Amino acid sequence: MNKALVLHGPNLNLLGTRQPEVYGHETLDDINNTLHEQAALGGWEVTCRQSNHEGELIDWIQAARLDGTAAIIINPAAYTHTSVAILDALNAFDGRVIEVHLSNVHRRESFRHHSYVSLRADGVIAGLGTQGYRAALEAVMRSN
Ligand code: DQA
Repeated sequence: MNKALVLHGPNLNLLGTRQPEVYGHETLDDINNTLHEQAALGGWEVTCRQSNHEGELIDWIQAARLDGTAAIIINPAAYTHTSVAILDALNAFDGRVIEVHLSNVHRRESFRHHSYVSLRADGVIAGLGTQGYRAALEAVMRSN
């Protein structure tokens, strides 16, 4: 079965209560449950993980190289703007990579305008809220 990995970076465990005016009211469980349903309809298996720790995200990206994962959908959150290590891990992954941001990072503070992960991403979605994850999964499932 085709497999996708969805990675959520730091503070995204707080979705629903964290700055809802920026990130909306849906929780991480809401997002993940919808993605599981969407994947199942398309005959895909999706694994969703969240971590506040850079190294744990990197461990999961490395594991995806070996377990048949076809695509990684990642919202690296603040690590987007700082992490060469996550970029390096993604560069060692051969499948598709889609970067997702709930907010339109380009309309926010200038430090959010640069993304290390975008140097590797096949596609980038920003500003569509939780719909961005569903669009990313749709793109991944269509292209395989
Ligand atoms: C974010 C944008 C980042 O700048 C921020 O650090 C986040 C969330 C987003 O989804 O809009 O934590 O990735």
